[in-house]
Amino acid sequence: MKTKLLCPIFSTLLFLVASPRSGSSNPIPAQHLMPVPKQITANKGKLAIDGTFHSQVTGYSDEFLQRGVERFFQSLNKKTGIPFAAATSAAARPGGLTIHCKGAGERVQSIAADESYTLEVTGEGASLVAPAPIGIIRGLETLLQLVDIDAQSFSIPCVKIEDRPRFRWRGLLIDVSRHWEPVEVVKRNLDQMAAVKLNVLHWHLSDDQGFRVESKIHPKLQQSGSDGNYYTQAEVRDIVDYAGDRGIRVVPEFDMPGHTTALLAAYPELAGAPGPYQIERAWGVFDPCMDPTKAIVYSFLDSFVGEMAALFPDEYFHIGGDEVNGKQWNASARIRAFKTREGLKDNRDLQAYFNRRLQKILSKHGKKMIGWDEILHPGLPRNVVVQSWRSQAALAESARAGFLGILSYGYYLDHMELASFHYSIDPLGKEAATLKEDEKSRVLGGEACMWAEFVDPENIDSRIWPRTAAIAERLWSPADVTDVNDMYLRLRQVNRELPYSGLMHRNDNFEMLLRMAAGRNPAPLVEFAELFNAAPLRVRVRAQKYTSLTPLNRMADAVMPESEAARNLQILVDRFVSGQADSNDVSPEIKTILNGWIENEKELRPLLESSYLLREAVPVSEMATELCMRGLQALDNIESKRKPREEWRKSTEDLIATAEKPQAEMLIAIVPAIKKLVEAAGSL
Ligand code: ACM
Repeated sequence: MKTKLLCPIFSTLLFLVASPRSGSSNPIPAQHLMPVPKQITANKGKLAIDGTFHSQVTGYSDEFLQRGVERFFQSLNKKTGIPFAAATSAAARPGGLTIHCKGAGERVQSIAADESYTLEVTGEGASLVAPAPIGIIRGLETLLQLVDIDAQSFSIPCVKIEDRPRFRWRGLLIDVSRHWEPVEVVKRNLDQMAAVKLNVLHWHLSDDQGFRVESKIHPKLQQSGSDGNYYTQAEVRDIVDYAGDRGIRVVPEFDMPGHTTALLAAYPELAGAPGPYQIERAWGVFDPCMDPTKAIVYSFLDSFVGEMAALFPDEYFHIGGDEVNGKQWNASARIRAFKTREGLKDNRDLQAYFNRRLQKILSKHGKKMIGWDEILHPGLPRNVVVQSWRSQAALAESARAGFLGILSYGYYLDHMELASFHYSIDPLGKEAATLKEDEKSRVLGGEACMWAEFVDPENIDSRIWPRTAAIAERLWSPADVTDVNDMYLRLRQVNRELPYSGLMHRNDNFEMLLRMAAGRNPAPLVEFAELFNAAPLRVRVRAQKYTSLTPLNRMADAVMPESEAARNLQILVDRFVSGQADSNDVSPEIKTILNGWIENEKELRPLLESSYLLREAVPVSEMATELCMRGLQALDNIESKRKPREEWRKSTEDLIATAEKPQAEMLIAIVPAIKKLVEAAGSL
């Protein structure tokens, strides 16, 4: 049913995509490319991929580049199933892929890395040219995305691409403190980051709920602060190398002076109030905080930063700096006296004092400081990078004040916004649009943030992907690449390809539903799950008392952040209501979908009632069925040009008002489409 349903939408959107950016009559399968390259010209024909496909590296080469080429062939092999006999032989042979790298890259990748490349594919072969190996790595990902399947074999369309990123800093934050994420979870996400050309893993390694890196100098950090869930230094090195191979910098974050309960559980003497402290299990902003007035805090930080600086080669070191509530500082007579003595008028000044001293320690160990936007303060050295999470205005303010900055406001994945929302947020949009050119150049880019209150190793992939691909495109592609339908078409393709890079975003969520079905046929539950979007953090924390020990094993944890089925319905309804299409084309499909969901409830109901984990969804399922019925009735009214009765209109509006609220900690994703039908019927 779904394939049939998709076809008309697909062909319309395909047309939309292919037209604006292709320069010839042979449309590029632009739906394959995410992020969209800077410049792309389609030519006629295609390059067939068979077992003789191979590569030759001319010009500069090194191990980084060679490993990239090997990975490319492994992925190509996985994607096509074709064994490549002599994929990377050095001998010159006609055809295949010629890789020409003009020179060496940096030993440790920096924000100045030149990621540009040129890719040309003709019927005879492909040529990939870049100034540095990192550009080759980016170009190989593009080439891989272009590989297309047809009835005979696989091929790459003839195309010329000139590409470079719009922003230098394109990151993903993964919080491994609130819920622990083992090495393999981080690695599979790094693979997918590389596929969409993200270049920074911001690794949020410490918070109130856990300190996650082995320290040999201060071993109590992992002994008392991690519940045994931490990365050994060997594992950190392995991940840093793994990321580095994929052109991804690893920026560690050790949040301080707040968000430090786990650290203070190990070293309570560093706190602003006497301990003891225990690892925090709840979610929120907590009082425990380092004491900026104590000399031992700085001697601890000196040795700790020194140890971590050696472990993480990146030039940047994230010190957090967010959400200091100041309660411990206010309560301490000693700290208050210190503030008076030093002429620090408030806690912001005191935090700035702490940051200045911390920055000197970082500098001593060869690191530049990055912190959340609370660190912005007149006394801060200008080489500090400010990460704006509270507003776009904060980013503009820091750029005006002379600081480099990155944007995370609008890119919070735990807020469970739709991909279209994230896509609409431009680091140089809103307040930043009014910056002068030199101020704009201080905006380095942005980072998606996967805060981990409601993600664990089983569902994290589905919360990060595919939405992060839309953010990756915003940060890589030209500013005028803004067509949302176009984006969704390519996002759908990315979504299909995710399992190639080992991501578990669908598999794991299916497994969760399977478990909830407890031995019964899960098909009705899988179909039911398509009606929902996952609810944001703010909804879940208000719904009940969660801690880090609460299992994430309910429907609310398994449903996707953005339902494809609901989006498809919305597209059909939009077309129907706007009169864009002949309503005869679209209305049977809408009816089939809504009737399908109504039918599904018959099988679903006993399943929901039989499972402790699913029983909360029984009233939600009734509500969803009622919504589908009202949608069908509205459609019927519109088609027969019959105004609905007043009591029907009133009761339907009440139903919609209830259904718009979270249900069993999920959002019913089809509500907007049903509402649109009902409103259209009401305005007859
Ligand atoms: C933050 O979300 N507190 C950076």
